[in-house]
Amino acid sequence: QAVRLEDYTPWSHVVDRVQLTFRLDPRATRVISRLSLEPNPAGPQGRRMFLHGEGLTLIRASIDGRAVTPDLTPDGLYCDVPEGPFTWECEVEIAPEGNTALEGLYMSNGMYCTQCEAEGFRKITYYPDRPDVMAPFDVRVESAMPVLLSNGNPGATGTLADGTPWVEWHDPWPKPSYLFALVAGDLRAHSDRFTTASDRDVALNIWVRPGDEDRCAYAMDALKRSMAWDEQVYGREYDLDVFNIVAVDDFNMGAMENKGLNIFNSKYVLASPQTATDRDYELIEGIIAHEYFHNWTGNRITCRDWFQLCLKEGLTVFRDQQFSGDQRSVPVKRIEDVLQLRARQFREDNGPLAHPVRPSSYIEINNFYTATVYEKGAEVIGMLKLLVGDAQYAEALALYFDRHDGDAATIEDWLAVFEDVTKRDLRQFSRWYTQAGTPRLSVEETFDAGTYTLRFRQRTPPTPGQAEKLPQVIPIAVGLLAPDGSEVVPTTVLEMTQEEQSFSFDGLAARPVPSLLRGFSAPVILDRASDAAERAFLLAHDTDAFNRWEAGRSLAKEVLLRMVGDNAPPSADYLAALDQVLADDTLDPAFRALVLQLPSEDDIAQSLHDNGTTPDPTAIHIARDALAHAQAEALAPKLPALFDAMTRPGPYTPDAEAAGCRALRHIALSLLTRLDGGDRAAQEFDRADNMTEELGALGLLIRAGRGTDPVARFAERWGHDRLVMDKWFQLQVNMAPPEQAVTRAETLAQRPDFDWKNPNKFRALIGGLAANAAGFHDPSGAGYRFVGEWLSRLDKVNPQTTARMTTVFETWPRYDADRQDMIRETLTRIANTPDLSRDTAEMVSRILG
Ligand code: ARG
Ligand code: ZN
Repeated sequence: QAVRLEDYTPWSHVVDRVQLTFRLDPRATRVISRLSLEPNPAGPQGRRMFLHGEGLTLIRASIDGRAVTPDLTPDGLYCDVPEGPFTWECEVEIAPEGNTALEGLYMSNGMYCTQCEAEGFRKITYYPDRPDVMAPFDVRVESAMPVLLSNGNPGATGTLADGTPWVEWHDPWPKPSYLFALVAGDLRAHSDRFTTASDRDVALNIWVRPGDEDRCAYAMDALKRSMAWDEQVYGREYDLDVFNIVAVDDFNMGAMENKGLNIFNSKYVLASPQTATDRDYELIEGIIAHEYFHNWTGNRITCRDWFQLCLKEGLTVFRDQQFSGDQRSVPVKRIEDVLQLRARQFREDNGPLAHPVRPSSYIEINNFYTATVYEKGAEVIGMLKLLVGDAQYAEALALYFDRHDGDAATIEDWLAVFEDVTKRDLRQFSRWYTQAGTPRLSVEETFDAGTYTLRFRQRTPPTPGQAEKLPQVIPIAVGLLAPDGSEVVPTTVLEMTQEEQSFSFDGLAARPVPSLLRGFSAPVILDRASDAAERAFLLAHDTDAFNRWEAGRSLAKEVLLRMVGDNAPPSADYLAALDQVLADDTLDPAFRALVLQLPSEDDIAQSLHDNGTTPDPTAIHIARDALAHAQAEALAPKLPALFDAMTRPGPYTPDAEAAGCRALRHIALSLLTRLDGGDRAAQEFDRADNMTEELGALGLLIRAGRGTDPVARFAERWGHDRLVMDKWFQLQVNMAPPEQAVTRAETLAQRPDFDWKNPNKFRALIGGLAANAAGFHDPSGAGYRFVGEWLSRLDKVNPQTTARMTTVFETWPRYDADRQDMIRETLTRIANTPDLSRDTAEMVSRILG
C-alpha cells in the first residue's frame, strides 16, 4: 500500500470548475458538488473515472443530469463517464461533530472548520484529491451560524425559504483541493486594511471566538509586515480582495495556508502581554509570515505530488526565516534556527526515521510533514543561495514565479530555473534532495611557508534503505583570524564536491585560526579536534556572530561530555570565557543569553552516542545541573547587576530588543536561583506583570522544589484560559525533578481539565514529559509505559497527532539494552493495539526498523 514517486501519472481528467454547496449540520451535513470535467490530454485515456472519498454517505450522483450508480470502494468510487466534457454532480452526507481526527470538516468549540492538507478533502466529498488537479472554486454555505467563510472573495448572500441564511464565495485562482477551507461559527473579527504596491485594497480579518478580539493585534501587525516584506524582498503581491485568518482551538498542527482563508491553531494567533510569552510572540510572527508567504510559494505555485512537499515547505520556511531575521536579528535568528535544526532534524536524520528531503515512497503522507522536509528543505535553499549568490538567487526566483505561476511543479522544475539562470550543473547538488542522513565533515590543517591548507573529508553514514552515499556539494564558508584576533581572510565560500578535497590560502604571516562553516553554511556535523583555548579565542574574537556562539557552544559541550564521562570538574577556561561574554555590553543581550544557555540533555545524549558511548540520561542530567551550578558560582559577583541592568522600566513590549533583555534577565535569575534557592524567583513570580516573567519564575520555583504554592496560585489565576493552562501542564512535568516527572504527569492526567482530545493539551502533558529527558527515560520504564498507553488511547481518536508523537521514541537505538528492550516493548504494544491507524502503524514499524 506504499505510494511511490516513480509511479506518478497525471489524472485522467481536468477540472474546469468546482461548485460546492454546504448545508451545515453537526450530525448530517450535506455537501453537493458539481464538477465540470473534460478528458486530460496528458493523462491516461479511458472511459472510467476514479474519485477519492472516505467515510462519505453517497446520497445521489449524476452525470450530465442523468443518475449514475458508481462503484464504491473504501477509498473512493469508480464511474463510467462519457468521452468528451461532462458535468459530474453528487450529494454526500457527513457528520462533522463526530470527526475527532480533525481532518476534513470538523467542529471545534461549536464552530465548523476544515483541515484538508494533505488528503482531508476526500472526507468532505468525492473528488480527485491530488495537488496536480487545480480548479477555480465557487462555494455556497447554508447555515444559521453568524459568520460563514470560504476561500477567495465574498459573493452574494441571501436567505432560503426556510429562513436559513446563505453566502457565496468565489476563488478565481485555480487551486488543488488541499487548499480548500470552510469556517462557520459565532466569530468576532479584528479587522484592518492593506494596500498592495499596485494599489489593491485588501480587507484583513482575524476571526476569533467572542472575548478573544483583544488578543489579535500582534498577529495583525505581523501579517501587515509580512505582506510588505514579500513585496519588497520577493516582489510578490497579494491577489484577492480579502485575507481572512481564523483561530481554532482544536488543530493538529500549527496552521494552514488555505487560499485567502488561513486557519490557525489559536496558540499561534492569540497574544496579550499577560497571556503570551516572548517565545509565543516570536512564533506567531513567524507562522503568520509562513502561511502568508505560502500564497505564492505553495498556492500560486503548488506541488505536482506529495513527494514534492519540500518544494513549497522548504522554500516557505526559508522565506519565513529570512523575514524573522530581518524583523529581529539575523545572527540571533540563525542561531535559533540551527538549534532547532540540530534538535529536531539531526535527531531524525540520525535515527530510524531518516528520510530524504524528497522522500521516494510513503504509506501515509501526513507522516512526512517532518523536520527533514521543512527544516533541512530550507537549509538546502540556503546553500543554493550561498553558492549562486544573492543576485542570481533573486533572478532565479523571479524566473520561478514567472515560469511556474499556476503550475503544480516539481523539484526538477525548481532546480532547472537555477540551472537556466546560473548555467550551473546542479545534478550533484540535487543529491541534497534524494540522499538522507547528515554528512560528517572532518578537517585537517597544515601550515607551511605562509600557506595554510584545509583538507576536508566528507562521509554520510548509511540510513534506512540507503546503504551507500555519494559525495554532496558542501558550501563551506571560511574565515581566517590572525593570532592577535584580527581577520586576515574574510568569509570565503569553499565549494566542496569531492569526498576529500583541499583548499589553500597563501601569503599568511603566521598560522591562522580558522573559523569554519560560518553562519552554519551547510547542514553537516563538523568533526574537528581543537583545543579549548582555540574555542575560547573564537568565542572572544570571531567576526562571524554565529561561529562566535558556536565556539562557546562546542566548548560547553566538550566540558559537559567530560563531566559526564570522567566526572571531570567544570573547566575554568570555559567559565572565564563566559564571564567575559556576560560582561560585554556591546553584545546583543539576546545573543549573550544564547551563549549562556547550555546544550540540552538530548543534545548531549546524541553527542555521546556519536562518540560511541551509551548515554545515561540520569548522569547527563546531573552533569548538566552541576555545570549550571558552576556557572552560577563563577558568575555570581556579576549576576545581581546584570539582572538589574536587564530590568527595563515601563510596560511590556514584545519587540526583539525587549525580549532579548528579558531572556538574559531570565538566565541571570535562573543562575541566581541556584544560589539563593528561589527567594528572588518567588519575588519575581509575585511582581511579574507579563507571562514571560511569570512563567519563567514559576519554572524556576518548580525546579528549586518550591513550586507547590505558586503552581496552585497560577491555576487559580489562569484556570479559565486554555492556552495559558497548556503552559501550566507542560511546565510542571518539564521542570519537575526527573524522579518525580512521571508521577506528576500521572496526577495531572487525572484532572478534569486535562482535555486530552485537544491536541495542544495532549502535546503539553505527554510531550512535556517526553521533553524531560531524564524523567522520560526513568530507569524503571514508567515514562515509556505512560506515554505508550496514552498514544494507544489517542490513536482511536486522532491518528495524526498520535503518529506525530511516536517520534519521542525515535532515539531508542542510542540507549542501553534495558531501555531499548522497554522501549521496544512499548512500541510493540502500540503496534498490537487493535485497529491501529495506518498513520501510527507506519511510524511504529519504521521506528522499530
Ligand atoms: N502546510 C501547512 C504548513 O506548513 C502544514 C500542514 C500540515 N499538514 C499535515 N497533514 N501535517 O503551514
Ligand atoms: Zn508550510
